[in-house]
Amino acid sequence: MKAQEQLTAIREYVKKSFSNERTGHDLYHLQRVTRLANKIAKQEGANLFRCETIAWLHDMTDHKLVGDEQEASHTLKNFLISIELSTSEIEEILEAIRTISYSKGETPSSLEGKIVQDADRLDAIGAIGIARAFTYGGARGKFMYHEQLSDNTIQHFYDKLLKLKSTIHTATAKSIAEERHHYMEQFLEQFKSEW
Ligand code: ADP
Ligand code: NI
Repeated sequence: MKAQEQLTAIREYVKKSFSNERTGHDLYHLQRVTRLANKIAKQEGANLFRCETIAWLHDMTDHKLVGDEQEASHTLKNFLISIELSTSEIEEILEAIRTISYSKGETPSSLEGKIVQDADRLDAIGAIGIARAFTYGGARGKFMYHEQLSDNTIQHFYDKLLKLKSTIHTATAKSIAEERHHYMEQFLEQFKSEW
């Protein structure tokens, strides 16, 4: 199978799996991450095909979205074999998507994996990041803010979102992160003043 056909097959596969996802990992998240990863990859001289593949697939085995991570990984591997990706490509992709999530506290070993990790984190900050946090919080029944309980979405900014900037690997993503980080800080100030 040619690279373009493989990418088309991957996009179709992902679309089928994510068509009803509404907690902030929807198809548009994957589209944005793929676009950002592509942009970063061009600047950083990384392999565009592998970056794009990892970007589309990066949430396919997320424990928050699938019942069994191992089983999801196995199913994904079989799919990648069926579209004739090479063993080394499959290994790289699976290692990357196993380590990308913030909650894992890990760093993918390939440059392409690092770039998708950067792109995924960029999509968790800035205006989109703010919207996703409240969408996720709402879907999980959380308070947007609470003066006594720490289980609220504003707290999530301090627990995670404001820390993401310092975990970015590439220079290209760092400069985007600076701007988005600043925007979130302004949002928090405004939120507190209105509260
Ligand atoms: P990752 O896949 O990197 O571990 P998550 O799946 O935890 O990231 O997060 C996906 C989106 O949901 C992000 O935009 C994140 O900010 C948001 N999110 C995750 N946990 C919370 C939370 N406890 N409160 C609000 N938003 C959250
Ligand atoms: Ni993601």
